[in-house]
Amino acid sequence: MMTDLLLLPGDGIGPEVTAQVRRVATKIAPELTIEERPFGGASFDQLGAPLTDETLAAAKAAKAVLMGAVGGPKWKDAPRDKRPEAGLLGLRTGMGVFANLRPAICFGPLANASSLKRELVEGLDFMIVRELTGGVYFGQPRGIEALPGGGRRGVDTQVYTTFEIERIARVAFELARGRRNKVASAEKSNVMETGLLWRQVVTDLHARDYADVELEHILADNAAMQIVKNPKQFDVMVTDNLFGDILSDAAAQLTGSLGMLPSAALGAPGTPGLYEPIHGSAPDIAGKGIANPLAAILSFEMALRWSLERPDLADTLFAAVNRALEGGARTPDLGGNMTTVEMADAVLAQL
Ligand code: IPM
Ligand code: MG
Repeated sequence: MMTDLLLLPGDGIGPEVTAQVRRVATKIAPELTIEERPFGGASFDQLGAPLTDETLAAAKAAKAVLMGAVGGPKWKDAPRDKRPEAGLLGLRTGMGVFANLRPAICFGPLANASSLKRELVEGLDFMIVRELTGGVYFGQPRGIEALPGGGRRGVDTQVYTTFEIERIARVAFELARGRRNKVASAEKSNVMETGLLWRQVVTDLHARDYADVELEHILADNAAMQIVKNPKQFDVMVTDNLFGDILSDAAAQLTGSLGMLPSAALGAPGTPGLYEPIHGSAPDIAGKGIANPLAAILSFEMALRWSLERPDLADTLFAAVNRALEGGARTPDLGGNMTTVEMADAVLAQL
C-alpha cells in the first residue's frame, strides 16, 4: 500500500518540528498513513549515507514527503557526497521536483515582527518559484584542482537548457493566473549567458501561451533591492536555483521570521511533492524545544493542498494557524516564550 506522507525529520530542530506535524496530521486527517525514515546527518550516522536507496525509493512511492531540516556542525568535515546537504540535493533530483514554490506571506498578527515597516509588509503575499534541480547546484564541470604553479582553482558551472527554463516558467505563469496574474522573471542577462537564454525563453513562452499574464523582466540584484524596498509590488517571481535560494531567504525575513515559512517542491503531475520548511537545522537552538514549528506545519498545509488532494483541510489548517497567532501564540523567534509543543498546542486548539 502507498504511504500518504513520508516524514524525514533530519537533523537539528528537524525532529522537533516534524513531531508537531505528526500531531497536527493525526488530528486533522487521521486517515493519512504516515511513515518515517532517517535522513541527512542522522541517516549518515545510522546508515552510512545521508540518503539511502531505500529512503529514495520510499520517497518516490509516497504521495508526499515532508522533510524537517538537514545539516549541522557535526558533519561539516564529512566529504561533500556524505554531507547532509548532499542528501537533500540527491532527494530533490531523485524525486525530480524541479519547481520550488516558496511563499512569503505576512500573517496580519505578525506585521510588527518584520524588520521592515508594518505598511510595507502588511498583507504581503508573494510567491517565489525557484528552479530546483538545475543550474550551478548541479552543473558540470565542478571541483577544486591544484594548479601546477601552486595555488588551487575552484570551478562551478551554471547550465540551463531551454527545456528546463520553459518548464519552470510555465509553472510560474500557471500559478499567476490563479493569483494576481503577474510574473517577474529574475536573472542576470546583462552578464550571464544562461541569464540571456532565460530571458529569451521566458519572453517567447509568454508571447506564445501566456500573453494574458503581466510579465516583467528584472535583474536579480535589482530584485533583491526591490524585495526589501517594496515587496508588495510582486505576485509571482520566477528565478533560477541559486538566485532563488538567496532571494527566498530575503523574502522570508520580510514576514517576521524564517521560522514561519514553508515550501513545496513539485515535479511532473502525478509524482509526489517534497515539502520543507525554508529554515535550516538551527543547531544553536536544537534540542531546546523552542523552535517555531509553524514553517513545518505550514509545509504540511502545502502538502494537503498540492499532493494529498485536500485543499479543504489546507484552508482549515491555514486559518487555525492565523487564529493561533491572533491569540498571541509566539515562540522566541517571534518575540514570545512559547515552546515548540505549546505553539503546536495553540494550533491544535483551533482545529
Ligand atoms: C534551501 C537550503 C539548501 C539550498 C541547502 C541546505 C542545500 O539553503 O533549501 O534553501 O541551498 O537549496
Ligand atoms: Mg537556502
